[in-house]
Amino acid sequence: MTDAPQPVADPARSADRVDLRFEPSGRQVRVPTGVTLFDAASWNGIAIDSTCGGHGTCKKCKVKILDGAAPASSLDTRAFGATELRDGWRLACRLEAAGDLRVEVPPLVTRPKAATVGVGRKVILRPAVQKRYVKLDEPTLQDQTSDLERLLASLDDLELRVDLHALRTIGPALRQGGYRATAVVVDDVLVDVEPGDTTGCLYGIAFDLGTTTVVATLLDLSSGTPVAVRSVLNKQQHFGADVISRISAIMLDPEALGKLSSLAHETLAELTAAVCSEGEVTPREVYEIAVAGNATMTHIALAIDPEALGMAPFVLASRWFPELLASELGVAVHPRARAVVFPAIGAYVGGDITSGLLASGMDRDRRTRLFVDIGTNCEIVLGSGERLLATAAPAGPAFEGASIRCGMRASDGAIESVEMSPEDLAVKVIGDGEPLGLCGSGLVDSVAELVAVGLLDPSGRFVADDRAAEVAPGLADRLRTVAGERVFVLHWLGEPGDAERAIYLTQRDVRELQFAKAAIATGWSLLLEDAGITADDVQQVLLAGSFGSYLSPASAVRIGLVPPLPVLRIVSAGNVAGEGAKMALMSVRERAGAMALLEEVRYVELSDRSDFNDRFVDELAFPA
Ligand code: FES
Repeated sequence: MTDAPQPVADPARSADRVDLRFEPSGRQVRVPTGVTLFDAASWNGIAIDSTCGGHGTCKKCKVKILDGAAPASSLDTRAFGATELRDGWRLACRLEAAGDLRVEVPPLVTRPKAATVGVGRKVILRPAVQKRYVKLDEPTLQDQTSDLERLLASLDDLELRVDLHALRTIGPALRQGGYRATAVVVDDVLVDVEPGDTTGCLYGIAFDLGTTTVVATLLDLSSGTPVAVRSVLNKQQHFGADVISRISAIMLDPEALGKLSSLAHETLAELTAAVCSEGEVTPREVYEIAVAGNATMTHIALAIDPEALGMAPFVLASRWFPELLASELGVAVHPRARAVVFPAIGAYVGGDITSGLLASGMDRDRRTRLFVDIGTNCEIVLGSGERLLATAAPAGPAFEGASIRCGMRASDGAIESVEMSPEDLAVKVIGDGEPLGLCGSGLVDSVAELVAVGLLDPSGRFVADDRAAEVAPGLADRLRTVAGERVFVLHWLGEPGDAERAIYLTQRDVRELQFAKAAIATGWSLLLEDAGITADDVQQVLLAGSFGSYLSPASAVRIGLVPPLPVLRIVSAGNVAGEGAKMALMSVRERAGAMALLEEVRYVELSDRSDFNDRFVDELAFPA
C-alpha cells in the first residue's frame, strides 16, 4: 500500500500537467490534468464570474475556448444555445482541463465571493458544504412520488448520493416547512434536509490545535467572514509543557493516551461552545470543522499512539488522516459535520506547518522564501521556485523563557523588548507594569543589543569590566556577578546596585540562546546548501507563529537567527496555522492544495548528517 492520501481522488496530485492561457490578460498557468478551468483560474488569482463558487448552479462562469479540445458538459447544453456551444462557450466550473487550452475570460459582471486570508492570500469561496433552498409541490393521491425523489428532481443539476441521516430528516422537514426546505449537501452527498430557508446559516470552525494554546475561529462559510475567535490553554498542560513530555507520559502509563485524547476533545468542545455563543450561532449550523496541529497533538486527538514520534527514526502513523466526523473529536455540532485534519509532512513538520505553508502561499511564490516557525521545535521550510525543502531544528525552550534564569512566558510583566545605547537602556513590559521577568523576544533583543553595544563579544562572552567601561560607559555598572556568574542587569527591582534583587541576563542564558539560534541557523543554512543557493538569494523570511509576531526582525538578524536581509523583508506572518485551517473550510481547492503539499515538500533530516555538528559549532558565534 502506498502512503498516498486517500480521501478524494484529487486531480491536484496527478503527475500530468497542462498549460492554460487566459485571454485577454495572456496569463499562462500550468496545472494538473483534471482541474477545472474555474479552479485553475482562481488558484492563480484570475477572476471568473460566479456567485455559486464553482458549484455549477449560477451559470455565470462563462468562458470561450479559443484553442484546444473542450467537450460540452450536460450543464453546458442547458446554459448555451447550439451556436454558442459551437463557438466554444463553456461553463468554466464544469470543464476539466484534459489538454492545453487557450481561453477567453469575459469581463466580470459580478464579483466572485472571495476573502483575503493568511499572508495576502485571496481565496475564492468554494466550501465543501452548500445549501439549496427548494420549493416543492405537495404530494397528492395522483402524485405519490417519494420525498427523496421529489427533492432530487429539483436538484437535478447535482449528482447526489444520499446519507441515511438525510432520509431520517427529509419527511419531517418537508412537512414542517410546507414543502419549502433546504437541502444540505457536502461534496456530492445529501446529508440533511431542513425545513424552510436556512441558506443564510452556514458555518464552520477552524481550530489551531497547539501544544500550549488552542485557537478556534467560527467562520461564516457563505461570506468567508470570521464571526468569533476564542483561545484557551490546551487542557493537556498538566501532562507537561511540550510534546516530548506528553509522549513520555503515554509511554509510561497505558491509560495516558485515552486521558490526553479526552482532554484534547474537551478543549475543542469548550472552544466550540464559546465561539458559537459569542457568534450567536446554533452549533447544529456548523457543518464542517478543520483542525491544524503538530503531529503529536493530531495523533493524540485522534487517539493514535504517538510513541514512534518520540524516538528515532521518528515515524508518523500516517501523513494524512481518513475522513472523520467532528463528533469523533468530541465536537458537538451538526451530527454529520466532517472534520478535516491537516496532513503532516514529517514527525516534526506537522499539520500546523502544512496549514501555515498553505496560508503563506509558499508553494505558489516564485521568490526564494524562508518560512521559520520558532518554538521548542523550530520548523523551517525553504521555498525556491517549484522546490520546497523542510526540516525541523530542536531549538529547546529558551525562546519560551523556560531555561532562562529570569525567564517567563510572554504574559503580563514580561520584558518583551529592550533598546540600548552605550549610555542607557530602555525596556518595554507587557501590560506596562513592573517587570517580572524576561520572555523570548526580550531575550533575543537583550542579547542583540548587548552584541551591538559591544558588551558581548562575538563568541557570546561578556567583556571584561575595563572594556565595558570603554564601550558602554552608561551600562558598565550593570555588569555584575551573582552566585559566581557574570550577569547583566536589565532592571533593578530594589535599590540600584542590588543585583540579587534584579532582573538580569546570565552568561549561561546567553549560551542557551546561542544553542537555540545555532540549531535554527544550522537548519536553514543546510537547506540553502541543499538547494544550491546562499543566504544572499533569500528574498523574504516569514516568521510564523505567535513568537514570530513578537520577535524584532532587526534583533533576529543581529544574532544570526535569520539570514541578513533588510528588515522590511523579514515579515511576521502571525498565526498562519489557523489561517490555513480557515482556508481549508472556505475552499475545497485550497484543501486539495494542502494535500498536494505532501508531494511537493521534501523533508530533510538533519540529525544524521555528518556536517551537522561542524556547522552547529560555526553557527554558535554572533555575526561580527
Ligand atoms: S461558477 Fe457558478 S455555475 Fe460555474
